[in-house]
Amino acid sequence: MVCLGNICRSPLAEGILRNKLLSEGLNVEVDSAGTIGLHAGEKPDQRMRKTALSFGVDIEDLRARQVTKDDLKNFDVIYAMDKSNYSNLLKLTNVEIERSKVRLILDEVEDSNNKEVPDPYFGDEQGFIDVYNLLDRATDKIIEKLKSNGKYDNKG
Ligand code: 4NP
Repeated sequence: MVCLGNICRSPLAEGILRNKLLSEGLNVEVDSAGTIGLHAGEKPDQRMRKTALSFGVDIEDLRARQVTKDDLKNFDVIYAMDKSNYSNLLKLTNVEIERSKVRLILDEVEDSNNKEVPDPYFGDEQGFIDVYNLLDRATDKIIEKLKSNGKYDNKG
C-alpha cells in the first residue's frame, strides 16, 4: 500500500487489510510505504489514527517509511492510492515484471468513478472518513480475490 507520506492513506489501507486477512485466516504479508521519506519513523497522522479507531482499526503500531526499489522486487502487488503515487512508483523501475505489479487500488472497485483515494491531509475530518469508506470497499475486493485464489489460506 503506497501513498505520498505513509501517514494517512496507506497505513490505513494496511491496517484495514491486516484486520480482514486475520479474520479470514489468510496468510498474506501486507505493508505500506510513502513515495517521500519526509515522515519516515512517524506514527500515522493522529486524525487518521482516530478515524481508524472509530471503525475498530488500530494502526498505532505502524511507522512511516519510504518505498524502495526492493519493495517492487519483493512484493507481488503494489497498490498506489492515487495517480501521482502510481507514476512515482513506475519511475523506480524499468523492469516490466515489476512495473506490472503496480496498480491503482480503486481499480479493484468496479463502480468507482474516481479512481483516486483523495489526500485528506489538508482537509477536514470528513475527508478521513471518506478515505476509510473507500479503502474499506477496496480491501473487501482484495480479500475476495485472495479467497478465490486458494493458495493463501492457512490450511496450507
Ligand atoms: P498521505 O497524506 O500521502 O495519505 O500519507 C499526506 C501526508 C503528508 C503530506 C501530504 C499528504 N505532506 O505534505 O507532508
